[in-house]
Amino acid sequence: MTELKFRDKSVCVTGAARGLGAAIARRFASAGAHVHIADVLDEETRDLGRSLADEGFAATAHHLDVTDEADWQMLVAAIGAAGTGLDVLVNNAGIIIRKSLAETSKAEWDKAMNVNVAGVFLGMKHCRAMLARAAPSAIVNISSTAGIIAHGDPSYTASKWAVRGLTKSAALEFSADRIRVNSVHPAMIATPLTFAAPEGHMDANRAVIPMGREASPDEIANIVLFLASDDASFMTGSEVTADGGLTTGGVAHARKRVQTDIQQR
Ligand SMILES: NC(=O)c1ccc[n+]([C@@H]2O[C@H](COP(=O)([O-])OP(=O)(O)OC[C@H]3O[C@@H](n4cnc5c(N)ncnc54)[C@H](O)[C@@H]3O)[C@@H](O)[C@H]2O)c1
Repeated sequence: MTELKFRDKSVCVTGAARGLGAAIARRFASAGAHVHIADVLDEETRDLGRSLADEGFAATAHHLDVTDEADWQMLVAAIGAAGTGLDVLVNNAGIIIRKSLAETSKAEWDKAMNVNVAGVFLGMKHCRAMLARAAPSAIVNISSTAGIIAHGDPSYTASKWAVRGLTKSAALEFSADRIRVNSVHPAMIATPLTFAAPEGHMDANRAVIPMGREASPDEIANIVLFLASDDASFMTGSEVTADGGLTTGGVAHARKRVQTDIQQR
């Protein structure tokens, strides 16, 4: 039986309608938490809320565009009215613009920065008071390996490096309130965002990930739960990679494969 580590805890997950966010919400719910699931995809969010409730979990669906400050204020008010308080915030909502620097328009750049960076900033800013009241409490920000090394999509890379820096800065400021703030840096995950990539994307990624595969959403959700739990009580400002070895030695791994191919010719 799953240990109910988050019994009587309240957790808000952004971008929770599908993909990684939905997996994180489900894992917290099955660990006993009341999950506040928030997304711009209202129908999918409501469907997930209903299916979690049908399974006997405590879940409330909310509309949230993470770039909209008024939406954050309404979300905080709704969580307050629900009477659950807030112990954990997971800033997971994110988008990717798969374009080179030359191809990226200013509007696309602004969109990536708004959702991926301003969304995290606004979440931490507006949820801070509620998290402080529940302290010790935690924030987990979803960055990417693109926040550790460069990917080919500059707006995504810049935004995910910004999430890493923002996390560390908030960790300093929020430690006075006993709110821990950490970031998670996954390589490729099996989610709709990945499945929407051009043909060949997944195989090309598998070729440079030493473990040779993508992560399941649950493998990343487990790390988020650990960082949000008391087991990580002395961790703040940390960047946790979960990348099958990509940032450890993706280049050496790919070089070895190429060398073997050359020798076999
Ligand atoms: N899939 C990967 O390979 C991968 C790897 C590393 C990091 N990540 C990160 O993980 C997070 C989740 O990605 P995913 O793969 O599940 O993507 P996804 O596209 O499957 O899901 C993202 C969710 O965020 C929501 N969202 C987008 N813009 C929003 C906004 N303005 N306000 C509220 N919600 C919004 C979407 O509606 C969607 O439900 C993202 O931050 C992404 O950058 C993904």
